[in-house]
Amino acid sequence: MKITSICCLGAGYVGGPTMAMIAAKCPDIRVTVADMNEKRIAAWNSDDLPVYEPGLDDIVTTARGRNLHFTTDIKAAIAGADLIFVSVGTPTKSYGIGAGRAADLRYIESAARLIAEVSEGHKIIVEKSTIPVKTASAIQTILAANSTKDATFQVLSNPEFLAEGTAIADLENPDRILIGGEQTPEGLAAIQALASVYQRWVPREKIITTNLWSSELSKLVANAFLAQRISSINSISALCEATGADVDEVARAIGTDSRIGPKFIKSSVGFGGSCFQKDILNLVYLCQSFGLPDAAEYWRQVIHLNDWQKSRFVEKIVRTLFNTVNGKRIAILGFAFKKDTNDTRESAAIHICRDLLRERAHIAIYDPQVDAAQIHQDLTEAGIDPELLATNVELCDSPYAAAENSHALATLTEWDEFRHLDLPRLYDLMLKPAFVFDGRAILPTTALKALGFDAFIIGKGA
Ligand code: UDX
Ligand code: ADP
Repeated sequence: MKITSICCLGAGYVGGPTMAMIAAKCPDIRVTVADMNEKRIAAWNSDDLPVYEPGLDDIVTTARGRNLHFTTDIKAAIAGADLIFVSVGTPTKSYGIGAGRAADLRYIESAARLIAEVSEGHKIIVEKSTIPVKTASAIQTILAANSTKDATFQVLSNPEFLAEGTAIADLENPDRILIGGEQTPEGLAAIQALASVYQRWVPREKIITTNLWSSELSKLVANAFLAQRISSINSISALCEATGADVDEVARAIGTDSRIGPKFIKSSVGFGGSCFQKDILNLVYLCQSFGLPDAAEYWRQVIHLNDWQKSRFVEKIVRTLFNTVNGKRIAILGFAFKKDTNDTRESAAIHICRDLLRERAHIAIYDPQVDAAQIHQDLTEAGIDPELLATNVELCDSPYAAAENSHALATLTEWDEFRHLDLPRLYDLMLKPAFVFDGRAILPTTALKALGFDAFIIGKGA
């Protein structure tokens, strides 16, 4: 089966960039990205894309209007496609059975029902969103039960491994492409059809094919292993602070062991992002559901350690500022969950700002890409009431504006521009003693101390 028309349901951080890359690499395939969120689609059709991602503007501009289209007409997009990516959100359930752990599959289910309603002929449905194992079977059941026009379907799992901030490079040159499908002649043909799309730019040996369940599970496990490395090094960061060791030196020392490797052992104020916590919770729920409480508890500790790392950072600030931050201005540099993205989902900054606000601090936030409305929404959803938000939160347009008259400054996102701050200027602007809490270990410790700052750097002993 040759694919000539693709559609993607969901124009988010995954669907948007992934489809833009497919469209850029396959000019002869029509790629339509459909989302019910009109504002989001309008932004994808404008010069101000809803997702900040280095290099994304260029590939969208190359393909948009040629073979890449963004639309809210979801039904037409489905009807016209041979292959449909489902890239809708799968947030953690906040209610009922499995609340706080299981994935909320209502968007997946409604997408499947719509596909069934609209489709004719043969279609390949591809799960792109991260989903619990066995979701493909739920999708198959919904499709089979609701198809009205004698349509036939093959469901594939093709998880996305791109990381935000490096999405374009990750899509252009992925470590691997994973495609899971039914091990029947029809399933294998569908796998081959999707593989042939990626083969336009990805070497065949990088395309791994498996059964459906292995593919679905591998996505959760990949994220759990990555997050586990960060929690492991973060547990050691506390020990470094207590002993006078330097966590970056420890990471370098262990990372040169080829069995350990150098990546994902950078200590931080805690991992964030839309995937790690959600996927581990999902894995925990799966283990519990299959009667494996010890395995569930093992993975739950990765999240527990991450929450502890964030709380520990706030406690350090409060204790250092003479046990009270009430009424004190604290500059927050960085609100995104990592550099080079405007995404704030599960950002450590939300947790830290919330806890500082509960201590009645005044916080002055600067982030180069996150907009004010997003920060307000995140803090409101974290339980900060509008009055406190109005009186105690200031959004600034430079690190220096945030630092002015602050008692302390905290770096929470590793934006490159924070590595080149004018430290003497910052010092002059701040109240004395001037405290720095570097949650990303990006500031030069010796230079800070030479200027007179009282500096705490995560994972570095005094
Ligand atoms: C992650 C996975 O990397 C990606 O493969 C998957 O598809 C989606 O989830 P993402 O959440 O976009 O990607 O970003 P990632 O680079 O993994 O960072 C996640 C969090 O971990 C960030 O808050 C980051 O700052 C933090 N992190 C990362 C560390 O604290 N230390 C590290 O060494 C690496
Ligand atoms: P991700 O980071 O996984 O891309 P996002 O939340 O950024 O997640 O994007 C998911 C998108 O999916 C949202 O823009 C949402 O409006 C969209 N969406 C949800 N359900 C459907 C659906 N049935 N059809 C099309 N789009 C949908």
